[in-house]
Parts: sequence; C-alpha cells; structure tokens
Amino acid sequence: MNSDLNRGGQISDPPLLKVEGLTKHFIQSDGLLDRFLGNAETVHALDNVDLEINKGETFGVVGESGCGKSTLARTLIGIHDATEGQIKYSDRDATDLSGKQLKEYRKDVQMIFQDPLSSLNPRQSVGTILKAPMEAHDIGDSDEERMKRAKDQLRRVGLEPNHVARYPHQFSGGQQQRIAIARALTLEPKLLIADEPVSALDVSVQAQILELLQGLQDELELTILFIAHDLSVIRYIADRVAVMYLGEIMELAPTSKLFEEPKHPYTKALLSAVPRINRDVREERDRTILRGAVPSPIDPPSGCRFHTRCPEIIPPEKWSGTQEEFKAGFDLRTRIHNEEIDPKAIRTRLEAKNENVTEKDIKEQILRESLPIQVGAYPKEIQDQFYRCASHVIDGDWSEAQSLIQDTFTSPCQQKPERVEPSPKHTVACLRVEQNPPAGRTDSSLVTDRNS
Ligand SMILES: Nc1ncnc2c1ncn2[C@@H]1O[C@H](COP(=O)(O)OP(=O)(O)OP(=O)(O)O)[C@@H](O)[C@H]1O
Ligand code: SF4
Ligand SMILES: [Mg+2]
Repeated sequence: MNSDLNRGGQISDPPLLKVEGLTKHFIQSDGLLDRFLGNAETVHALDNVDLEINKGETFGVVGESGCGKSTLARTLIGIHDATEGQIKYSDRDATDLSGKQLKEYRKDVQMIFQDPLSSLNPRQSVGTILKAPMEAHDIGDSDEERMKRAKDQLRRVGLEPNHVARYPHQFSGGQQQRIAIARALTLEPKLLIADEPVSALDVSVQAQILELLQGLQDELELTILFIAHDLSVIRYIADRVAVMYLGEIMELAPTSKLFEEPKHPYTKALLSAVPRINRDVREERDRTILRGAVPSPIDPPSGCRFHTRCPEIIPPEKWSGTQEEFKAGFDLRTRIHNEEIDPKAIRTRLEAKNENVTEKDIKEQILRESLPIQVGAYPKEIQDQFYRCASHVIDGDWSEAQSLIQDTFTSPCQQKPERVEPSPKHTVACLRVEQNPPAGRTDSSLVTDRNS
C-alpha cells in the first residue's frame, strides 16, 4: 500500500491504466477438425471488465481459482490478445500499439508470477537473467554498466551483489521471488503486475516479500496490480480491491470499505469463509457456506453469474414462502439443470439396506439428498411438483424435470444486474444493492427534497 494515499486511492490525476469492457474468450477444442466441425467450446475467462488503476496505488484483485485473475493480468500485459474491450495506458490504447510505443508499454508494464523458479531460466546466472531485459531495451551503454545496474537491483531487493554469479536453484523460494522482482525493476517500470507473488511462499517469507514490495513502491513511486486469492494478503497490501467471480467483477471498493461494509453476497461469503479465532457463537452460526462448485466458464450461468450459488438469491414477486425455502428449491433446480442427481446410485445404496425398494423410496431419497430443507416445509402443490420432478429424473427425462421445476423456481437474478454505486468509489453488481443517490435523483434533487 502506498503510504501517501489514504486507503481508497484519493488521487486527482487521470488513471495510469483504464480498462473498459475487457473480454477474453478462449476457444477450446481437441484439434482443427473439432473447430471445423463447430465442436469447439468457448471459455468465458473474462467478460466486460471495467477498472481504473491510479498512479501510485496498489490495486488488488481477488477471487476463487479459475475466476480469471491471471487472464486479466496476461491480457493487460499483452500475453493474450483481448477478445473485446479497451486497455488505455496513460490515455493511449494499449491494444493497438506498435513500434516505439509498444516497446515503451512493454518496458513500463512488468509482471511477476506465482512460481518464481519457473519464470527464471535455470541455465542462466542471475547476472545474465537481470541483464537480458536491459539488452532487449537498449538500457546501459556497455555490459559492465548493465552488470552494475543488475548488482544495484539485487541490493535494492535485499540480496547481495555477488549473487549475480549464482544460478536460480541455489536460492530459497523467497530469494527467487526477490530475483524475479529485481528483474522486473531493471526496466524501471511504472506498473508492476504481481500475479499471486506470495502464494507459493511460507507465511513468514510472504510478509517479507510484501514489505519489500511496499518499500519499493514508496521508493520508486510504483503502481501495483496485486492478484491474490488470500483475503488477508489483499487487506494488508491493497488500497482498492476488485472481487472477481467467473470472469466478471462483482464488487470494487476501497479496501477498508470492502472489508467493513461488503455489499455483494459473494464478497460477504468470501469474507465469512476466512478463519477467525475470536468469532462468537452467533457469528459462527451466521457464517455463509457456499454450496456447490463454481460453474464452468464454458457455460456460465445467465444473468448474475453468481445466482446458482448465491445465498441471497431473490425470489420472484409471486413467491409466498420464505427466501430460504426459495433458495433451497433453486438449489434443487440447479442440480436438475446440471443433471447432477444419480438415481441409479441412489437405488443401489437403498437396496444395500433394504430389499424392497419402491419408486416412492427413491423419490424421497432424491429430495432428501438434493433439497437442502425438508420437502414438508412447502405447500402441497409445490411438494407434488418436487415429486413429479423426481419421477422424471428417475425416468432419465431431464428436460421434462427441468421445465417443470423452472415453472416455480425462476429468479429475477437470472437477469444481468446493472452496476450501481452504493457509495462513492464503490461499485457493486447485485440486484439487492441500490444506487445512492437512487437512480434518477441527482445531488441537486436531494437538496431540493431536503429543503421542501
Ligand atoms: N490458454 C487458455 N486456454 C483455455 N482456457 C484457459 C486458458 N487460460 C486460462 N483458461 C481458463 O480460463 C479460466 C480463468 O483462468 P485463470 O487462470 O485466469 O484463473 P485464475 O483466477 O488465475 O485462477 P488461479 O487462482 O487458479 O490462478 C479458467 O477456466 C481457465 O481454465
Ligand atoms: S443479483 Fe441476485 S444472485 Fe446475484 S448476487 Fe445479487 S442477490 Fe445474489
Ligand atoms: Mg492465476
């Protein structure tokens, strides 16, 4: 974190990096023939990402494995071409640079990776590794000068100048990461993209690397994009945080705001999953446990991508039961939609205990296993609907089961939520969160209301 910033990056300069509608889809296929036959699948790794990174701040990106964090980093640095969208660096379109400007961008934006050893060539000495970027960018008039700069960088990251003669495997994981940081700094970058730079390190070494990055940021006025899946690391280092889920940003806020007043149900669930020693009984009871696996980015859920796991999914207006009952029914719908229920395995399990298993027994067992609350909690007509769905599942008629259950269990969250600002610099994509001031009301209309 930059100590000159108050958390939240109160900076008036234009952003160093501005990303608008950034999208990256991968086409996944077993070969050319698959592509030709139209069997290729599209991986929605990144969709419509908007963000701004201010000069001198540490911008954190957090989310579960596979949510697109590395794809974001790699697309920003040009390892991947964007499928759609714009990356503006110092007001220039970085997706459309060539010649001198492209070279400058590649010098200004450097990256460090999770596994330092695999990013360092094992056959090259540290001196050769550190000199290579300088040679590529014509920095330094002679080999001696480049070697001197390499030694200065090693000192800067807490290593010894004579380490230039050693090879990467002769260092510990923390020291290897220091070498990777030194290599990134040889070009005096303006933006450092750090993709899980401490995830592979012991906790005590993590703290040292984080401190090193903070010190370097202050010394060199670096801007840092810091990716992590560990919320405590993000809380420690970031000024602002974007929370990603299935390729999209769910919430973006100053760090203190995000941790103290999270608005998005996904952020709340991530925070509630962090182990805490002093949690009292009530807090422990209220912890949100996310059920179900993260859906595949090949076929992400429609509307709000979190709706298949969201504990706060919104029932339709006509729903007369509780939200908890709706959520449980929607969980069953998701399992039926994903064809996750195995009636044959259920029959086998039941027959291992009892010789005379009836279809009714199997239906009841399906509902016991796949409906998170008791079927008896629902009105009679919904109970009947559940049993009819279970019958279709037993018959292998998934499409009939799917269309029957979605008659009742359809949510407004299957529509894409607009991004709203519940407070300044805080954006959230959730239908439960309201714009403040509410849409259509400007500051001046609020003044008029108050005065009238
Ligand atoms: N080159 C590629 N080709 C096809 N799919 C890819 C490629 N790179 C990433 N993906 C897919 O894109 C999605 C996002 O991957 P990404 O590596 O960006 O996630 P991540 O958030 O960095 O995960 P992790 O925390 O595990 O590093 C994943 O489903 C991944 O399998
Ligand atoms: S839009 Fe609906 S499903 Fe998505 S986070 Fe908000 S409440 Fe949950
Ligand atoms: Mg990654």
